[in-house]
Amino acid sequence: MNHVPVLIDEIANLATGCRRIVDCTVGDGGHSARLLRPETTILAIDLDPRAIKRSQAVLDANRVTWINKGYADPATIEEMRRFRPDFVLLDLGISSAQIDEDEYGFSFRRGVKLDMRMAGEGTTASDILNSFPPEELTELFREYADEKHAKRLANEITKRRSSRPFETSDDFVNAIRAALGPRTGPADFARLFQSIRIAVNGEIEALNAVLPAALDALQPNGQIAVISYHSVEDRVVKQLFREWSRECICPAGVPICTCRGTALGKASPRKPIVPSNAELASNPRARSAKLRVFRKADATQG
Ligand SMILES: C[S@@+](CC[C@H](N)C(=O)[O-])C[C@H]1O[C@@H](n2cnc3c(N)ncnc32)[C@H](O)[C@@H]1O
Repeated sequence: MNHVPVLIDEIANLATGCRRIVDCTVGDGGHSARLLRPETTILAIDLDPRAIKRSQAVLDANRVTWINKGYADPATIEEMRRFRPDFVLLDLGISSAQIDEDEYGFSFRRGVKLDMRMAGEGTTASDILNSFPPEELTELFREYADEKHAKRLANEITKRRSSRPFETSDDFVNAIRAALGPRTGPADFARLFQSIRIAVNGEIEALNAVLPAALDALQPNGQIAVISYHSVEDRVVKQLFREWSRECICPAGVPICTCRGTALGKASPRKPIVPSNAELASNPRARSAKLRVFRKADATQG
């Protein structure tokens, strides 16, 4: 499937004039291909070895260095710090290629093995569905899928797995249908499959770890741009950017300011950038996208 990177024009506009770019989620290389110019070098990161290969097929190896590790991995963070970027991009979630290939196990298409690991190692989706206690499953569906009947679904899963373990997408889809009723449809499956994917890949923890590291690595006046597709991800980004924009982070009631006493930069623009109607009409993947941008303070400020 030919895939157009989400908010590509907006990202290209923001990065105009930038020379040292970190693409934390290079994926199929779509954003990086647009950002790569004669004067730019890119540090391209992805924990999926297959994504690294796909992006290597479209990006000029003379100006790109690849890292096949998680963006929150300490070794990646060290490389990012050494690179001193003026622009850091995170396009969260999964790529079209990852959705389209059943081997990854992200899809609720019939007969897909419940895997969902981006790097192909560690806990799988079926491990979680077969082993998490009902309380943890309830919490997961509530937190990551905003599911009203989280407890009912968790109990249904626990009941079913006692006679037969969860192995394929059909097992999970059937449990969802049984717990939430016959009116359940693709939007519910997508939301609940996504919640398991977030847990399998520790996505929220990784995001919380990479953003401060990216800010630290960034040159003065540089920008971090994050495209999120999910309210939990967006909340993490929004709250961090808001905290970094504050002049003082001392607890209320402290008589003298003892904190850093200056903003680390500002969210700019203040509100998230969302896809245009034209993009929404032509690219269904853009539907829930929100782009937030933080500009690090200039070295001369503060
Ligand atoms: C939405 S896709 C990026 C698409 C890309 N912007 C493009 O234009 O093709 C997200 C990518 O992030 C990668 N990814 C997800 N979590 C990651 C992590 N913690 N560290 C590094 N890469 C990650 C996925 O493997 C996937 O390739």
